[in-house]
Amino acid sequence: MRVLVSEMVLTNSRRPSGTPMPESLSNGQQGADYDSTVFRSTLGLAPVVDFETAVLAGLAPDGGLYVPATLPQITDSQLRQWQNHGYPELAFEVLSLFIDDKVMPAADLRSLVHSSFSTFGHPKVLPHHQLEDDCSVQELFHGPTLSFKDVAMGFVVNLFDYFLTRRGERRTLMVATSGDTGPAAAHASIGRQSIDTWLFFPRGLITDEQMRQMTTVMSPNVHAVAVDNCHNGSDDLDVMISSCFADTEFVEEMQLSSVNSVNWARVMTQTVHYVYGYLQHAKNVGDPVNFAVPSGAFGNVCAGAIARRMGVPIGHFIVANNANTVLGEALSSGTFARPDIKNTLASAIDISVPMNFWRHLYFSLKGDTDRLRDAWQTYVADGVVEFSVQERAAFADGFLTHAVTDDAILETTRETWHDENYLLDPHSAVAVAAARHHRKSVEGPIVCLATAHPAKFPETIRLALGALPLAGAHPSLVEAQTACQRMYICDAAHMQQSIPEVMRQVMRASVETQRDR
Ligand SMILES: Cc1ncc(COP(=O)(O)O)c(C=O)c1O
Repeated sequence: MRVLVSEMVLTNSRRPSGTPMPESLSNGQQGADYDSTVFRSTLGLAPVVDFETAVLAGLAPDGGLYVPATLPQITDSQLRQWQNHGYPELAFEVLSLFIDDKVMPAADLRSLVHSSFSTFGHPKVLPHHQLEDDCSVQELFHGPTLSFKDVAMGFVVNLFDYFLTRRGERRTLMVATSGDTGPAAAHASIGRQSIDTWLFFPRGLITDEQMRQMTTVMSPNVHAVAVDNCHNGSDDLDVMISSCFADTEFVEEMQLSSVNSVNWARVMTQTVHYVYGYLQHAKNVGDPVNFAVPSGAFGNVCAGAIARRMGVPIGHFIVANNANTVLGEALSSGTFARPDIKNTLASAIDISVPMNFWRHLYFSLKGDTDRLRDAWQTYVADGVVEFSVQERAAFADGFLTHAVTDDAILETTRETWHDENYLLDPHSAVAVAAARHHRKSVEGPIVCLATAHPAKFPETIRLALGALPLAGAHPSLVEAQTACQRMYICDAAHMQQSIPEVMRQVMRASVETQRDR
């Protein structure tokens, strides 16, 4: 049986005036069509599962990504009611559209959400900073590891812990990182009885600050692995992890799962900051607000596109790439390829395999898993897939793209510091440069997503400004400079054989230790 995405799905860049909204929904209730027990794989070959199973699995057994068969909807009247909500309460409202009482009681959800954002270092959780030209910055980096990954990771790991404790089970999480997911997962995993977290990072291709945010975590269930000679950055690590997931015996033995953005819960949680950003910037509900998003694996912008499909009247997404332009090319030409990585100053988006693009394709192509499977097979076999003009029109509607060079990253950092006294990290600079490029192409405010604190990239800031201003430091990173580090080191050439074996040994040793207690 083929289940189509909700009839309510909107394909226009903005909800056209006069388009009827889904029937009025009471606050915090899911849309008529959404069913938390019906999650499918984008490749269509895995059995339908419920929300909890999809989250705990991370990746579907056919190698696809889990998606809800239909999306809940958000009405204008809900948006008006939420206008004065603080971030945690808004997050509760939006997430309760996905997480109904079949999944968990509302009181538990509220408490999970509030505790997830209590670790943020700013009273507003995600404050905004106004720039010139009706552009603003949404600061997503006030979480414990100073990047936007904290915004969803804290909640997702809490969700894992909640489900696993309820079931009396454990999971082993394998996390590949281009620099920021790893620290967020490490921090969120500290002291958890229900999970062991393995972090794999391409040594030399992330900053020292990012590395220490993983290697200085001493919790016995958190294991950092430095992988040397990753010629394709974190994409090489994704390949290794995919092959671990393809080994069903290993998956079973280790109870393997993923909290990378292949996990639906990460993308779902990231829809909230678009609703928040929208409400902070729309003068009236219904006015367009645009988002400029520094993009790598397409998880963040995919979440924004989902928020728009749910009814948030977002105008355009400006997909901001560095020199790794696969997303820009796919959206502008319909050719989706996987070229080699180019190393840039915005290293966390040095990614050429944007897995969440497949989720976006699923919704854009109205749940046609036959087509997705065919496209996926071509992409894997040939390294490139061509989409038709009609297909591209469906998935690129309301998207603009811009590629930002290293020179432009430095120039934008300099200009914004000197003219507006505001310090950007290199990824946020990619967003701001792309927003400025497209300022005249879109109507309404542009919200640039600031995805990392500048203190994580001091070398680039020094390169741009000649010195590191006070705003480019953070006490937690200064402390990590002298803290003890612990990590495994492996060469990319051997990781395929050695890593599963090391993980097995560590798991056996930890089981024995627990038995002896
Ligand atoms: C600082 C920063 N900005 C942007 C991104 C891109 O986000 P996504 O991979 O969801 O596109 C990442 C992670 O990959 C990141 O760490």
